[in-house]
Amino acid sequence: MPSDSLPTVRLVGIGAALPNPCLHNDDLSQIVETSDEWIWPRTGIRERRILPPQLSVVDLASQAATQALAQAQVHPQELDLILLATSTSADRFGSAPQVQAALGATRAVAFDLTAACTGFVFAVATATQFLQTGLYRRALVVAADVLSRTVDWTDRTTCVLFGDGAGAVVLEADTAGRSEVGTRASMPQVQQGILSIELRSDGTGSELLSLGMETEARPLVGSLEVGQYRCRPITMNGREVYKFAVNAVPEIIEKSLFRAGISAEAVQGYFVHQANQRILDAIAKRLEVDPERVASVLERYGNTSGASVPIALADWIEKGRFGPGDLGVMVGFGAGLTWGSIVFRWGK
Ligand code: UT7
Repeated sequence: MPSDSLPTVRLVGIGAALPNPCLHNDDLSQIVETSDEWIWPRTGIRERRILPPQLSVVDLASQAATQALAQAQVHPQELDLILLATSTSADRFGSAPQVQAALGATRAVAFDLTAACTGFVFAVATATQFLQTGLYRRALVVAADVLSRTVDWTDRTTCVLFGDGAGAVVLEADTAGRSEVGTRASMPQVQQGILSIELRSDGTGSELLSLGMETEARPLVGSLEVGQYRCRPITMNGREVYKFAVNAVPEIIEKSLFRAGISAEAVQGYFVHQANQRILDAIAKRLEVDPERVASVLERYGNTSGASVPIALADWIEKGRFGPGDLGVMVGFGAGLTWGSIVFRWGK
């Protein structure tokens, strides 16, 4: 990839939704034994947004999606596919059809995809396949997470990190303009849309970061026992996840750039999962790129899990730091373990 036999898949609209209530590091110091002096230098986070209890992940996802559709000038009924990347669905059977209903996207098939903080990247990669095969023409990928509902608010090692948010992109297959890489030697054409995809999983590291269910055995009838789920809060081995991230992420970015035939310096914006500013800085150093090219919204929003990549991208597009024709890399990493990198050129 890209191949001149596949349709170009373009990213044509973006949106983000952040709830208003804001929790500052100083507020957290009233809940657990922590301080701005500990959190800020170690993570780059100053505050995070918290979804009010009367709103749902579907509300947040629909808000981001509506913005993305407006920017793309795509009507909800033109959508063929909706993917909702979330690890915090209120309904474990899936919430994507509720987003479809809220948008009025009556033609679209909608389903959830769970890959923690890599969810958005895996969902964009999945949607791209549907568009490249020609089965569908337009897709909406939404990543929405409300980790505030799943953290243990007495555990200072995790509750200071996470915030709530959603981000969405609209993807469009362009069968007329196929991905072209120098198809005519005299007139090399600029590559458009999604240019390369690299995805990885390593389940041997699953215990490092988990949002698990406990199974409690209960007698049912006679000697028959049945297991019953009970939700557990997030657990994380921060140090080990940190080591994994600073090793695995630069490597997968380099592989995706190599596959796209693009140098690290040619990229205007790196949109890397927002877990820790030190991880973002280490990645910039390892790739030998200006840290200014690595987007960061950590200070304001903390770690919004799967939503962090499109939130960072939406932030740069809104500020005019990234726009049509620019080359970008979106990178997710986290629980699973999962990680992935997609090289793209933004816009129609
Ligand atoms: O989105 C999924 C991907 N997640 C990540 O990529 C997270 C990666 N990991 C990290 O970002 C960092 O490991 C953390 C920010 C989570 C933690 O930073 P650290 O420098 O690795 O701290 P640590 O876990 O080694 O803890 C150092 C000390 C400990 O005290 P002792 O044992 O040295 O006495 C902790 O108990 O800091 C203590 N500590 C805190 N102190 C005040 C841990 N959390 C806090 C806190 N406030 N919130």
